[in-house]
Amino acid sequence: MTTTDDEIDATEVKESPIEGLGLFATREFVEGETIRRVNIVREITDADPIRPEAGERIEHCAYPDGKVVLWGYPDRHLNHSCDPNAYERYVDEHVEIVARRSIAMGEEITVDYLVNNAGGDSWPCQCGATRCRKITAGSFFDLPIEIQCEYRPLLAEWFVSNHGDRLARIPIWP
Ligand SMILES: C[S@@+](CC[C@H](N)C(=O)[O-])C[C@H]1O[C@@H](n2cnc3c(N)ncnc32)[C@H](O)[C@@H]1O
Ligand SMILES: [Zn+2]
Repeated sequence: MTTTDDEIDATEVKESPIEGLGLFATREFVEGETIRRVNIVREITDADPIRPEAGERIEHCAYPDGKVVLWGYPDRHLNHSCDPNAYERYVDEHVEIVARRSIAMGEEITVDYLVNNAGGDSWPCQCGATRCRKITAGSFFDLPIEIQCEYRPLLAEWFVSNHGDRLARIPIWP
């Protein structure tokens, strides 16, 4: 899957105050606007594993619906925030990065890695948000309940379908 030049032109990769390289907006985005379609390189399988010798890194993989999928440039540089300004929207076989609120030109685009995540590593967070959780928990279901409620509308259909029982226990959000 590739992106058009127009889509690439709306973001740039540069050094991030959060960690390493990050993805930044080169123009303003309004809430709900699609920032770009994710450049997905391929599915990682036993037969077609990550190739470190080609610069591929497991940190650049996403885990939709039990699969392991390698994200390409520039999306692989999306950093995590505990108060993200964007989220991933799954549309058929595509993934889009969508503004969760208005984003100013020059602002770093971030997502919360625990949305659509039922288990993974925990690591210290450097996002700098006022509500930073400091240590990322390993799963959406480890998040404080009010954050689960806030993120509930952002969840992908496949995640809802796979975890319906657990999600049913989340109180109705306003
Ligand atoms: C998909 S990469 C993000 C891009 C990465 N900064 C780079 O230079 O390529 C994911 C990795 O970035 C780092 N990272 C992302 N968000 C972070 C955060 N809020 N705090 C600390 N490290 C973070 C972690 O090492 C994580 O495994
Ligand atoms: Zn944080």
